[in-house]
Amino acid sequence: MVAATAYETLGTIRRGCPVARSGELDGFVLVTGYDEIREAAQAPERFSAYVGGLGAAAVVTEMPEAVAPMFETDAEHHHQWRRALATFFTPAAAAAQKQYVRAICRETLLQELIPQGAGNLVASYTQQVPPLVIGRVLGLAELERAWLSEHVRALYGAETLTDAEQVGRVYADFLLRQIRDRRAHPGSDLLSCMATAEVDGRTAGEDELVKMTMLMVAAGHLSTADACATAILHLLDDPALRERVAADSGLMEAFVEELVRYEPAVAATGRTVTTDTQLGGMPLAPGDRLLLAWGSANRDERRFHDGDVFRVDRERTRTRHLGWGAGEHRCLGRHLARVEVRVMLEELLRALPDVRLQPHASVRRTFGVIRGVAALPAQWSRR
Ligand code: HEM
Repeated sequence: MVAATAYETLGTIRRGCPVARSGELDGFVLVTGYDEIREAAQAPERFSAYVGGLGAAAVVTEMPEAVAPMFETDAEHHHQWRRALATFFTPAAAAAQKQYVRAICRETLLQELIPQGAGNLVASYTQQVPPLVIGRVLGLAELERAWLSEHVRALYGAETLTDAEQVGRVYADFLLRQIRDRRAHPGSDLLSCMATAEVDGRTAGEDELVKMTMLMVAAGHLSTADACATAILHLLDDPALRERVAADSGLMEAFVEELVRYEPAVAATGRTVTTDTQLGGMPLAPGDRLLLAWGSANRDERRFHDGDVFRVDRERTRTRHLGWGAGEHRCLGRHLARVEVRVMLEELLRALPDVRLQPHASVRRTFGVIRGVAALPAQWSRR
């Protein structure tokens, strides 16, 4: 219910108070205005990307103190890590994954789906592709990618903390073995680079690397799967747009970018205040926790005309949307994400041209750090 009306609620809060203090969850500051979010993201000396309890710390209880390099670090340390990994995330590196993404969709997943005539496109399609792709970028062999894919879906789909902890432990052990192997025999893949990079004169510790790898997989998997699911839902709701997008790859590109503005899959992430300061007139003290609601920034009426309206032909203005974040932590995987979502959509529309929601299907939206769709019960003509 909250997820269904999330942007109405955030819009009301934003118009009244773009930086608002909440007493919920032990107290945090909700930042919903474009300018305020961008200011916080661009000032790492006041607002640190370190937020306690992130990622692996939640499920692998033995490593609560580990800080994930890059994701949770700031300034020079962060810059050095970004530079070390940049080569794996260039537009050319992303384009090099295109054929692989297409092959997974076309030769495996859709081959299985076409004769079924119906299915849940989240579980059987959008959540299947991204873990294999990030596994490949990390440098995992084919069977290991399949293992990773199965276990991350089990981890993020776990219904109890105990289940999540159990899968999390097995998953962390798997990653640790991979990391140790890369340290001993480094290759030219992303995981070898992470395992051997020297930043501030040292390589990262094992706990740090396990946590970093978990966050890398989560960043590559959850957001992309949900972006694609939201995109499919949008196209199923608008058959005319779907026809145009299916026929025009330039329009497909614009569609994906507008979707990341309108419904960013990474809906909100955190920062921790490190000094006495203020944001949007709100006094803040060290330790205050900020929640930056990227999706709300993208609809801020002070920056976007008709921000609550999805417009595939929206004019590019000087205001860049914040669906990929802002400042030094801006999404490193955005070129890869664009390639994955576009190819997944192209292949789906090609293979299932009359795909539609099942009659009376109720589609539940999700809203947390990640914004997406719980399930997409769809049907299509069997062939
Ligand atoms: C549509 C899909 C995606 C969206 C909407 C998205 C969005 C974002 C956003 C908003 C951030 C900034 C978070 C913050 O500053 O707190 C971020 C960071 C990041 N994203 Fe993505 N992302 C997507 C896909 C990917 C993919 C496929 C990868 C590949 C691994 C990836 C890797 C990363 C990394 C490594 C960071 C952290 C960068 C840093 O800390 O310097 N993302 N992403």
